[in-house]
Amino acid sequence: MYVLGIESTAHTFGVGIIKDGEVLANERDIYRPKAGGIIPGEAALHHYELGPIILKRALDKAKVSLSQIDLFAFSQGPGLLPCLKVGYQMTKFLADKYDKKIIGVNHCVAHIEIARKVTGLNDPVMLYVSGGNTQVVTYENGRYVVFGETQDIGIGNLLDKTGRRLGIPFPAGPKIEELAKQGKNYIKLPYVIKGMDVSFSGIETFVSQIIGKHKMEDICFSLQETVFAMLMEASERAMAYCKKDSLIIAGGVAANTRLNKMGKIMCDERNARFEFMKKEYAGDNGAMIAFTGYLMRDYVQDDLSPRPDFRTDAVEIKYR
Ligand code: ATP
Ligand code: FE2
Repeated sequence: MYVLGIESTAHTFGVGIIKDGEVLANERDIYRPKAGGIIPGEAALHHYELGPIILKRALDKAKVSLSQIDLFAFSQGPGLLPCLKVGYQMTKFLADKYDKKIIGVNHCVAHIEIARKVTGLNDPVMLYVSGGNTQVVTYENGRYVVFGETQDIGIGNLLDKTGRRLGIPFPAGPKIEELAKQGKNYIKLPYVIKGMDVSFSGIETFVSQIIGKHKMEDICFSLQETVFAMLMEASERAMAYCKKDSLIIAGGVAANTRLNKMGKIMCDERNARFEFMKKEYAGDNGAMIAFTGYLMRDYVQDDLSPRPDFRTDAVEIKYR
């Protein structure tokens, strides 16, 4: 069975093709704003313009033609409405043309499913950290339950906003990581965990006020150490409370070596398993949508319209 998946929730337009659950192609292009943050209409335009090119690249890579695809899956949400619409319309067009079924996939669930597949960890706690999302998620009673999450901005957004103030272009995560390695002095920053949840906007404001008063390297170092420690605390609590013995970190921020190191240390200390996510599958990608569409192939869905606020726990998981 061939499944084609389209990802278009935010910056990334991706097309993945899988055959019987194995990835044949995973192509993407990322919209990068010239200055400042993401402009939804501009990102959507990027997806419209590059969509057909990425689609062709994926088909060529997988060596399949559109007529061979048995099922079309798309990222139904959460995400930016103009971007979601592009993925939906393209999927609908293709499925109608070839008279095939469509599956709407929850973007966060897709991150978990590809992580389970790639790492081989069957029942992990997942720390999902991207530009817009920060969640600690795990499987309980037929759903993926959000154990803890950010009460305001996503962690990637915090890094990107801070980066912009430091003169680092988007996405700032990789450069902040590099600078942090050279940081030596820890500056005490607010450490904000509220119950199971974390909050970053106070930290963002605090950091904006110390820029210029400390070395950039020390600011980046302190920022990473503080917010990653918060995430580790929330993840460890979820593992203890839900009695799970493994951890995966997914999302664009999962590319960060220091964050992964902290995950490994925390897991080692509690005799739990930790697996690194391959970079290709850690960030937004089409393969995760195709793969989750494949798992959901027998689902009957009444509503396929884009859902900007689609919650992770809104999806009933029937295939586990
Ligand atoms: P979503 O729609 O799920 O929120 P997204 O559009 O933010 O996704 P991702 O690719 O999942 O896309 O994540 C991008 C984020 O990852 C950016 O905020 C970027 O700064 C951050 N990032 C990338 N590499 C690193 C790194 N090495 N360290 C920290 N953050 C990183
Ligand atoms: Fe994502």
